[in-house]
Amino acid sequence: MKLWGGRFETGPSEIFERFSGSLDFDKRLLDADVRGSQAFARALERAQILTAEERAQIVTAFDEIREASRLPGFFEGANDEDVHTLVIRKLKEKAGAVADKIHTGRSRNEQVSLDTRLWLRGVCDYIRALLVDFMSTLLDLGEKYPDAVVPGYTHMRRAQAVLWPHYLLAYFEMFLRDHQRFGYARRAANLMPLGSGALAGSGFNLDRMAIARDLDFEDITANSMDVSADRDFALDFLYAASTTMLHLSRLAEDWILYSSDEFHWIELGDGVTSGSSLMPQKKNPDSLELIRGKCGRVIGAFNSLMITMKGLPMTYNRDMQEDKEPLFEATDQLVGCLEMACEVAGTVVLNPQAPLNDAEEGWVVATDLAEALARGGIPFHQAHKLVGKLVLESVKAGKDPQEWDAASLQAFTPEFTPGIAQTLAKLLDPREGMKSREIPGGTGPVHVRATLKSRRALLATARLEVSAK
Ligand code: ARG
Repeated sequence: MKLWGGRFETGPSEIFERFSGSLDFDKRLLDADVRGSQAFARALERAQILTAEERAQIVTAFDEIREASRLPGFFEGANDEDVHTLVIRKLKEKAGAVADKIHTGRSRNEQVSLDTRLWLRGVCDYIRALLVDFMSTLLDLGEKYPDAVVPGYTHMRRAQAVLWPHYLLAYFEMFLRDHQRFGYARRAANLMPLGSGALAGSGFNLDRMAIARDLDFEDITANSMDVSADRDFALDFLYAASTTMLHLSRLAEDWILYSSDEFHWIELGDGVTSGSSLMPQKKNPDSLELIRGKCGRVIGAFNSLMITMKGLPMTYNRDMQEDKEPLFEATDQLVGCLEMACEVAGTVVLNPQAPLNDAEEGWVVATDLAEALARGGIPFHQAHKLVGKLVLESVKAGKDPQEWDAASLQAFTPEFTPGIAQTLAKLLDPREGMKSREIPGGTGPVHVRATLKSRRALLATARLEVSAK
């Protein structure tokens, strides 16, 4: 069946039909299409285009179509152009002539916008709930080792000591922003486009706000041409999906390193790792590598739609049908990765001694020493230089920070008075310096404990917000 044809003398060629059809993938929009069409039937009744009986007949037939679509074989042999066409063909089969009225003043251009918006709204809610679960797992992992100390890195070189939960809370903040981004993407999608017609606005007196209320939209779109031309809401979603994947990928990279024999900080569960077909000793972090790898596909999906939309003239162009596969692809990969990341994080066991040893061996305390000197009245630049010399001397002599004490420090330079040398000696323990970092946002132990608590409370609110949708 076609939703057009009067103007044509022959039908489409078989190759063109196969080339241009989208049913294979846009069938995922069937529920949204049915829901939107039922609301449109009610709108046509309010505009006195359908009688109450006709509307009831159509709405019931749509209910039956939705039910039937759950059964195997529903899509078999269907060669309709797209899901909208298939749904109307089924409606005709069920409801007969009255089905011819359902497209009164309605275009597939607005319908595809509506369906995608409805679908994305649900997906945003689902992903936000998964993000909350994952953030909660990160907090669990922080609370399990509240006092563990790890070296923080810049340039992949040991930089300063931080608390393990402080490190995890950094990722928490990234995923919290992703959660907000999906909130924004949801709001961008949450505008009701029906009544826009093909591009110029419907020629029938439809109550657009009533349709919006019927479908639980926040408001209606403001410009009919914009509706046909716009895929920003899909791009907003894909951007949120891409940043989330980017964050997951960076975390995966960290944990691949941290679980290696070289670091030996964390152990991943047997259930999320795999062996080698040749090397019997191997325990490979494939789950994390796949998360890192799939990130490329999601960013690819975002790029793909950006490039599709670039330079399209106003308003609808068939190119825009290419929006759906990237959306589905990004959604499937992201959902899979979030589920996998939750599972992996649940198996992580920290071996706190290993990162502590790494912190003790590296000069991660150097900044603590320089800052202590500055607090004691030595201008920071000079303090920096003095500690730099101490590090140089130690590196040359193959000496770890722990091999210094108050007496040897005092002997190192006259600037290290007995009082200062005492202070510095204490700071050679990487657990000490962080106590001076009780500044909001810092790794001070009191502050980190409080942050774990407040982020936990925030999560409870986010969970409520998600479940209220
Ligand atoms: N299947 C099309 C899409 O996904 C919607 C139909 C509009 N087609 C058209 N030729 N106006 O974008």
